[in-house]
Amino acid sequence: MPTNDVSDLASRLDDARSVTVITGAGVSAPSGVPTFRDDHGLWKNHRPEELATPQAFASDPTMIWEWYNWRRELVAQCQPNAAHHILAKWASSARVTTIITQNVDGLHERAGTDGVIRFHGSIWELRCWKECDAGKIAWQDSAVPLHPLPPRCPYCDELARPGVVWFGEHITPDVLSASLHAARCEVFLTIGTSAIVQPAASLVHTAKQGGAFTAEINLEPTPSSTEVDIAIQGSADHILVEIERQRDN
Ligand code: OAD
Repeated sequence: MPTNDVSDLASRLDDARSVTVITGAGVSAPSGVPTFRDDHGLWKNHRPEELATPQAFASDPTMIWEWYNWRRELVAQCQPNAAHHILAKWASSARVTTIITQNVDGLHERAGTDGVIRFHGSIWELRCWKECDAGKIAWQDSAVPLHPLPPRCPYCDELARPGVVWFGEHITPDVLSASLHAARCEVFLTIGTSAIVQPAASLVHTAKQGGAFTAEINLEPTPSSTEVDIAIQGSADHILVEIERQRDN
């Protein structure tokens, strides 16, 4: 672990009046949630990119719902890890102003963070596939397993879909504008994301252009690594524990 970078980041976090953190699948990996772009993310030999599209849902909604049902069952058995807990502590003590997550698993909320900006939605929410008036607003459903499968819209009895953003779909406008607003901060920290899915990946550039100090924590180098001010390689939970230890001293 590059100790100098960790202590530099710890003191930047201490001094900043506004800190925005964006998280990706690597933050939930230590909890046992598979990331998207490694072999463990595969389900029945399908890549997530093949399954997370409106076209895939239109052609086989039952298969896509089986995949989401599998992910919901898996996540329900996972617990938030040290990274989620430390970020929750920082958010509640105003050391972190905003947490944006690309993760749809709800683990930040289960660790006690309020007001998370859920960039890609939530697997615990459903919407009407046909976007009927009442059903286009997402509703919560935490049943595990889901029954019936595929689930139906309670308002019009058409198919329900997962309340997530799929490839080829737009980020909800108020989520995008809140995220762009949060990118105007003093320190912008990106953790556990491959930094290739847009527009989430460009938020760090927006922050940098706005004058933020930028940092990345990831197991391996990403396309952002050469652009951020500090790139720390290591597991999100271990690095955040180390930063927390240094901030407490
Ligand atoms: P990816 O699976 O693309 O990338 C996960 C990143 O986390 C990789 O760069 C890993 O090296 C890193 N990583 C793994 N374990 C880690 C650990 N313990 N500590 C730190 N880093 C670790 O996941 P995302 O970047 O989150 O979108 O993917 C972005 C989006 O693509 C997802 O939100 C999802 C997916 O398709 C939608 O569902 C729309």
